[in-house]
Amino acid sequence: MKGKFITVEGTDGSGKSTQLKLLMDYLGTKNCDVVFTREPGGTEISEKIRDVILDINNKEMTDMTEALLYAAARAQHVQQKIIPAINEGKVVICDRFVDSSIAYQGAARGLGTDNIMQINSFALNGIMPDLTLFFDLPPEKGILRKKNEKELDRLESEKLDFHVNVYEGYKKLCSQYPDRIKVISADDTVENINRQVIEIIDGLLKGKYYE
Ligand code: TYD
Repeated sequence: MKGKFITVEGTDGSGKSTQLKLLMDYLGTKNCDVVFTREPGGTEISEKIRDVILDINNKEMTDMTEALLYAAARAQHVQQKIIPAINEGKVVICDRFVDSSIAYQGAARGLGTDNIMQINSFALNGIMPDLTLFFDLPPEKGILRKKNEKELDRLESEKLDFHVNVYEGYKKLCSQYPDRIKVISADDTVENINRQVIEIIDGLLKGKYYE
């Protein structure tokens, strides 16, 4: 049996990371053969590309370079890790994927969805997620949360307008692909958000990948 490919998306500070940890704990109790990974990153080479992209000192990086670096990191990740795991029947859960490029580089940087899909169709090797969870939190709440938590990286330190445009990019994707992208109301308690996540994940995996 082929595996499943699940991605998780949201604006910065949407609470994705906390919820991913809880989801991993849950799947751990279910004996589910799961590979957890992230973008940009997920392989040694892609993590090196990640460091270049997020480095706060790389102020001269053009939007096109940024988009191509995300796609390059993705190409390595897809070929080296994601496709082999799916072919082995595993459930792959990836923190961010191509929808991030559409929202951040396509919408917020203004490069447009077509350009982003063009460079990414080469990187994707024919794969797309079976299911995507979108953590829906107003961007001003998310970025405020991040600011209180840690030093911001190059993308996070963009102005609020940028994050609002990212959010709008995501909302458009949600309305274009309602079957694939499931919206989680992330302006809620950790427990309630977790409940929404588990319900959707059980809907896809229960009975097939665990009991
Ligand atoms: P990260 O610290 O992983 O953010 P988060 O914890 O919010 O997921 O940094 C990844 C940053 O890169 C994040 O700001 C989103 C951005 N990004 C893009 O702009 N395009 C992409 O294709 C991807 C995968 C991420």
